[in-house]
Amino acid sequence: MTTPIARLQTLLETRMNAVNTMIATRMESENAPRIPEVTAHLIGAGGKRVRPLLTLAAAGLYDYDGEHDVKLAATVEFIHTATLLHDDVVDESDQRRGRPTANLLWDNQSSVLVGDYLFARSFQLMVEAGSLRVLDILANASAVIAEGEVLQLSVSRNLGTPEETYIRVIRGKTAALFAAATEVGALVAGASEDDITALRDYGDALGIAFQIADDLLDLTGEEIGKNTGDDLREGKLTMPVIRAIAVADAEERVFWERLIARGRYQEGDLEIALAIFNRRGILDSVRKTAFDYVAQAQACLKDLPDNAIRAEMHDLAEFVVARLR
Ligand code: IPE
Ligand code: IPE
Ligand code: MG
Ligand code: MG
Repeated sequence: MTTPIARLQTLLETRMNAVNTMIATRMESENAPRIPEVTAHLIGAGGKRVRPLLTLAAAGLYDYDGEHDVKLAATVEFIHTATLLHDDVVDESDQRRGRPTANLLWDNQSSVLVGDYLFARSFQLMVEAGSLRVLDILANASAVIAEGEVLQLSVSRNLGTPEETYIRVIRGKTAALFAAATEVGALVAGASEDDITALRDYGDALGIAFQIADDLLDLTGEEIGKNTGDDLREGKLTMPVIRAIAVADAEERVFWERLIARGRYQEGDLEIALAIFNRRGILDSVRKTAFDYVAQAQACLKDLPDNAIRAEMHDLAEFVVARLR
């Protein structure tokens, strides 16, 4: 069975190949061989490439036939790759895309510095699109991603974190890049202001649904190429945890306080957390909220050009959450 991602890849194959070539050439560095080593390790492991695909799709909706969408799609994947290198240091993760993380294979210093290099490369690439408005959108997204990561850090272990704060975190750390990816695609393709806004809003809602799903996968996923249970070990206040704390009885409260607030993770805690979530129907309620964002994303597409790409973008929204089942 093919997925919407695979079908979009087929629809946009020539352009996606050009993006991959551009990524490979732009990650080179003559002066520091460590840079392409680390980058090739991560980029060579693949990844879904969903963000560059979204930029190409947004431009492709308007039959764009220039070159800027390819450059901007590569820019977006560079930003994403830089944030992954940094994120795995911050999260002390040891697995990414089915491989040991760069921070494990090399060290934290290399991951931070190569991440910085990729950020800088992404700025060189986005300048080539020759549009101050594009620069504004992508520079803003880069700042907002960092804000999301820092906000998450500063509320971790805080049991009083409201769900609105969680949404603010994921809208920053994840949805901002999805939204920028679709917005710049529409922009370079010369879409109307209404359509640019609709595509940005689609990216925003899709990104939120995507991160809610990713957080569920951290609890229940198998073979996702990343460790499961990491978020609990780090005391992250994800949507299931926030909802579980809100309805906790005295015994459950003791559990969340030990695990999340005091960070005393013990073997078997993931299973206990899952039992609580199941008993209280929390995973279903979180999935339902994710699907609300899917519907919101899909509604943004209704006035856009009605073509094969739009149909796949519609299905993609469902797919990022349906991959949970
Ligand atoms: C991982 O993103 C980071 C999140 C925002 C959850 P992806 O799940 O798109 O990662 P790759 O690029 O496919 O590995
Ligand atoms: C990733 O967030 C968001 C960014 C890389 C900015 P997470 O930490 O939740 O994602 P994974 O699970 O490591 O991919
Ligand atoms: Mg992480
Ligand atoms: Mg993280």
